[in-house]
Amino acid sequence: MAVLDQITSQQAIELENKYGAHNYHPLPVVLNRGEGVYVWDVEGKKYYDFLSAYSAVNQGHCHPKIVDAMTNQAKTLSLTSRAFYNDVLGKYEKFVTEYFGFDKVLPMNTGAEAVETALKLCRRWAYEVKGIAENEAQIIVCENNFHGRTTTIISFSNDPVACKNFGPFTNGFLKI
Ligand SMILES: Cc1ncc(COP(=O)(O)O)c(C=O)c1O
Repeated sequence: MAVLDQITSQQAIELENKYGAHNYHPLPVVLNRGEGVYVWDVEGKKYYDFLSAYSAVNQGHCHPKIVDAMTNQAKTLSLTSRAFYNDVLGKYEKFVTEYFGFDKVLPMNTGAEAVETALKLCRRWAYEVKGIAENEAQIIVCENNFHGRTTTIISFSNDPVACKNFGPFTNGFLKI
């Protein structure tokens, strides 16, 4: 079977189970198409997508304006890295900061990356503005949290599924 041939739900699940790391336990639904609030499985059954990729696609699936913007950019310039300026990042930063009423923005690729960066911001602020002694910063966190899966983030988790056998952990968190 060629990988790109149309496959059944059962076949897709078997492939993921055999060749993918078992770091996730999905619902047994194999999606291959989406439009707005709807998604369809490979057998053509239609669902409402109430999960929206944990909010990553709250705008809905395949919105034509978003697809146009993505494909136009992909055809124009794939990636610049932050080693260079480019002609769209500043426009986006102006729009999003004005829209949400903040002074500055630092875009992130993932939630875990955003949480890690927030921790670093808090710590640097503690040392440089509040005058906390070096390496003494404490961040207060609530138990039963989920903030992602990096080593530092799971250091303040009390969920064994997230943190069992991944120590040693990062210090500097006070769990309440
Ligand atoms: C509440 C919450 N915080 C952080 C994250 C981590 O986001 P990401 O998987 O994009 O790193 C998630 C992901 O599910 C989440 O639900």
